[in-house]
Amino acid sequence: MSVAQKRLLDLIDVEIGIVRPRRKTLVIVKYANFSVNYGEMVGVVGESGSGKTMLCRAIIGTLHRRGVSIMGGQVNFEGEDLSKINEARWKMLRGKVIGYVPQSALAGPNPVLTIAKQLAEALEQVDGTGSMESRAKELLDLVKIRRIDTVMKQYPYQLSGGMRQRVMIACALASRPKILIADEPTTGLDVTVQSQIMDLLKEIRRDLGTAIILISHDLALVDEVCDKIVVMHAGATVEVVASGNMSQPRHPYTIALNASRIDIAKPGGNLTIIKGNPPSVGQWNPGCRFVERCDYREDDCNVGEHPPLVGEKDGHQTACLHADKIKTI
Ligand SMILES: Nc1ncnc2c1ncn2[C@@H]1O[C@H](COP(=O)(O)OP(=O)(O)O)[C@@H](O)[C@H]1O
Ligand SMILES: [Mg+2]
Repeated sequence: MSVAQKRLLDLIDVEIGIVRPRRKTLVIVKYANFSVNYGEMVGVVGESGSGKTMLCRAIIGTLHRRGVSIMGGQVNFEGEDLSKINEARWKMLRGKVIGYVPQSALAGPNPVLTIAKQLAEALEQVDGTGSMESRAKELLDLVKIRRIDTVMKQYPYQLSGGMRQRVMIACALASRPKILIADEPTTGLDVTVQSQIMDLLKEIRRDLGTAIILISHDLALVDEVCDKIVVMHAGATVEVVASGNMSQPRHPYTIALNASRIDIAKPGGNLTIIKGNPPSVGQWNPGCRFVERCDYREDDCNVGEHPPLVGEKDGHQTACLHADKIKTI
């Protein structure tokens, strides 16, 4: 397969914002750049507020529900630019070819519907053979739920957080999407359940060949399960790196994220924290948005546009003017 054939999704200089009457347009994401190949598992990390959920909504076509829109760049999915399609076309893609587990999915299952009804609602949207019941059971089996007959009759409140998340993933898989976007699927779950959900995502990718975008603020988690990691800071992609190369980051923000990982902290040692705060939306200075927090900054970091993401696509890419001078210790 050539690179072009392998590529399922390609975000190029995506800009997302809100047009406000009588006020300056609020830009939330600018220069988001990454791609996802067929069957690839890509992790997107960054602090809270860095625009991760906005990117998910751009790929699933629900930004407008919050008054937000794609203002520039391209969201190419199998060669079609999703920033240009109409609602009729979205209805064919959203939740069907592109599956989504939203950030608040743990609270998501409809509390008054049994799990069987919940799954039936998801399955109604898609063609399939066999009875609704057998198809619903097949979905629960896919997400490794045991005691299927009992669970089918239960309501969401009767299930643990991990089980609820499995049901939400099952619903998102009803139409066997080509890509599944999971927005912080393990936030709020305890560590053991977290790793079970991660194993499940890996199995789905392996058994169904589904590409997965895993959104998280937890670099260690993403590094363990994903092929590639996309680091977002203040609405921009600052680094794209294969997970095997995560120990050699070139962007100062990724270096700081790496240093603050709990999993590699020495027992009894101090935990490093990233200094400062990301700039607020709408208050970006010229030049690099990380400059205020950066140990490597030089005069030219404060001027012009945000540094472009440089490097081979599908290779290691960094958006830092001085990346070549940065040595990871
Ligand atoms: N409707 C909105 N109006 C103004 N700001 C918004 C709106 N929706 C989101 N934002 C801002 O956009 C930024 C990115 O949000 P989000 O994508 O949810 O971040 P993340 O998922 O990385 O935590 C945040 O700073 C958030 O406050
Ligand atoms: Mg979010």
